[in-house]
Amino acid sequence: MTASTRYRPLRIGPFVSETPVVLAPMAGITNAGFRRLCREQGAGFYVCEMITSRGLVEKNPLTRRMIAFSDDESPRSMQLYGVDPVAMGRAVRIVAEEGLADHVDMNFGCPVPKVTRKGGGAALPYKRRLFEAIVMAAVDNAGSIPVTVKMRIGIDDGRHTYLDAAQRAVGAGVAAVALHARTAAQRYSGTADWSAIARLRDAVPAEIPVLGNGDVFSAADALAMVDRTGCDGVVVGRGCLGRPWLFGDLEAAFAGRPLPEPPTLRQVAATMHRHAELLEEHMRTDADPTKGIRDMRKHVAWYLKGFPVGPEVRRRLGLINSVDELDELVSALDLDQRFPPEADGPRGRQGSPGRVVLPEHWLDDPDDVTVPLGAEMENSGG
Ligand SMILES: Cc1cc2nc3c(=O)[nH]c(=O)nc-3n(C[C@H](O)[C@H](O)[C@H](O)COP(=O)(O)O)c2cc1C
Repeated sequence: MTASTRYRPLRIGPFVSETPVVLAPMAGITNAGFRRLCREQGAGFYVCEMITSRGLVEKNPLTRRMIAFSDDESPRSMQLYGVDPVAMGRAVRIVAEEGLADHVDMNFGCPVPKVTRKGGGAALPYKRRLFEAIVMAAVDNAGSIPVTVKMRIGIDDGRHTYLDAAQRAVGAGVAAVALHARTAAQRYSGTADWSAIARLRDAVPAEIPVLGNGDVFSAADALAMVDRTGCDGVVVGRGCLGRPWLFGDLEAAFAGRPLPEPPTLRQVAATMHRHAELLEEHMRTDADPTKGIRDMRKHVAWYLKGFPVGPEVRRRLGLINSVDELDELVSALDLDQRFPPEADGPRGRQGSPGRVVLPEHWLDDPDDVTVPLGAEMENSGG
């Protein structure tokens, strides 16, 4: 059996990607410019930054600005966050009626204390009936738009919620279930437990795609995740930070083709230039013309991880205010350098595990459907 017959295209509702890959929603990262850069490398689903149901319902101008898709983006995947079935239903109805997106993914995986403290994100699936009501409200108002959920294993090792939550989400009519195979207590630390993805694949009806997420940093990792868990697609987050060509590697690997050579620094420089241009184009406003290039600074650090650049150049790259400045600093480097093997592996958030901060009495009654107070964030972006 060749690789290309071993791996199947990924279907989410009516949408099909020959390469079973999803760009993970990442707040502050997966804006329209970054998604376009990734789409230029390889096929897949590319999900936007998190949008809050409240921001949509209250017509928050920042939220509206964040819902930006390129003309050629298809499907337009939007991630929504919410804790209130009524607000979520109204938000999804707005998306459907105003044609704001073609696919809605729901965030039940955020481990940030400011979110879980209020009962949102990864804290929410523990309240199983409330979780179910939110998902139902989304699906019922989505019309023909497919709705998916993205969640974690549970709150901590004593409270795994993913199997129950997946059954409820499937019962509510979701088109796919994605699992970041860590608990909220793990945050981004340690390693993802892919065996949970395999258990989820076994527990969910075969016609509902299960998407595996956590620690896919290379094409080999992606194939290994599918081989070991039987999942229908992989969701890639930190692995593509400073390495958008990973999507080209993934396309080749899933099609059974040899991987492209890793880029030289000259090719990395060209990708950084393109990325900076796209961020400028998509983020600049008259009031803040350098917003895009300032956002690029963190990406430059990821791109250059492992390259011997020197502290002074790194420092100056951290202060760039234009694409020209970026190009000038980079052009002084030895551009024929090969991609350093030590640049492989994790990047972006890692951190350490910690106790999950929850609202008082949150764990007392998993069947309580009271909407947690103050957990509806107004601002989008996570
Ligand atoms: C900077 C950053 C922002 C993130 N923002 C979101 C978000 O808005 N919504 C979400 O569901 N997950 C978010 N995540 C989690 C990722 O989607 C993904 O589940 C996680 O990084 C694990 O995948 P990885 O090991 O491939 O990085 C974020 C992760 C990072 C690193």
